[in-house]
Amino acid sequence: MVLCPMTRCRARDTLATPLMTEYYCQRATEGGLLISEGVCVAANGHGFVNTAGIYTSEQIESWKAVTQGVHKRGAIFFLQLWHVGRASHTELQPGNAAPISPTSNSVPLPWRVTLIDADGKATKQMYSAPRPLHIDEIPQIIQYFRNGAKNAREAGFDGCEIHGAHGYILDAFIKDTINDRTDAYGGSIENRCKLLMEVTQAVVDEIGASKTAVRISPFSVYNSVGPDSNPEALFTYLHSKLDKFGLAYIHLTEPEFSFIKDNFKWAPQYAHVTKRRITPLLVSGGHTLDTGNEAIGSGYADLVGYGRTFIANPDLVKRFAKDAQLNTLNSSTIYGDYTARGYTDYPFLDEEADAGIEA
Ligand code: PHB
Repeated sequence: MVLCPMTRCRARDTLATPLMTEYYCQRATEGGLLISEGVCVAANGHGFVNTAGIYTSEQIESWKAVTQGVHKRGAIFFLQLWHVGRASHTELQPGNAAPISPTSNSVPLPWRVTLIDADGKATKQMYSAPRPLHIDEIPQIIQYFRNGAKNAREAGFDGCEIHGAHGYILDAFIKDTINDRTDAYGGSIENRCKLLMEVTQAVVDEIGASKTAVRISPFSVYNSVGPDSNPEALFTYLHSKLDKFGLAYIHLTEPEFSFIKDNFKWAPQYAHVTKRRITPLLVSGGHTLDTGNEAIGSGYADLVGYGRTFIANPDLVKRFAKDAQLNTLNSSTIYGDYTARGYTDYPFLDEEADAGIEA
């Protein structure tokens, strides 16, 4: 079982904090795999307040305490390389520039993003109109991810997961609901997946295939990206191409990914696509202990990711081992305000044994 990457918005000025060290250490177990929150690979890759980066030396330094803490507890720690693309606001962009989009148009996401005003108060504003990304700028995007992987290694991470899912920049290239390009990066499935493959190759060249993973969500409808016109063909293509790199794992977000609606479903109906895989398959999407065991036991997957249950249960591994009762999630404190509330203050099953975890 794996800690899924989750936006928790507790970074300060794009830096990792001691509170974040405590959060990850609480969830670290001997031999367990943790995937970090999405960490932005470029200054123009942020789309939420209080998200961390991995593109400056100060950011690299700030992550070192987190990776050291996690390693002390014997866990394996991958950093998720993230660029939000068009899902951003000018206030979150360097020089208040427009966010970048794979589309030929400047249609913004049709809802609101939370920002912090000058008095430190949260306000909701409509997403900004993005600007189309020119083909000449694509090598720069690839370089951001490559550099992020290099920096993550320097910060002490064991590997990197490329965020190719959920409507962020790479997924927005992949899906034909949003990618309307007429150049080499638009049109056919192959063209739409080209950027993800080039980014994957660059990260593999930088840190090695066994330390590289990719997250995909061919079935997701998120950030107004999706559904793709042919998700099964898309999944088949993506999986067969990615399977050839010899990656650490492929992370599949299962169908009907939706943060708002409680309708996660797992996807054994697509098991034929991945049946003869070489690469370990990590699946996530609202799994319980039972569905997780079924996913592994049936051979459908090799790893199961837990998100919301792991937020509310820092000792989820122990609770699953004992089939113990779970804490319930408080959705209102998922996204943060620098505080421990809803972040590091969920109770442990055995408070005495687990209290005072040292970073
Ligand atoms: C979110 O914060 O809502 C979010 C971020 C990254 C994801 C999915 C959801 O991949």
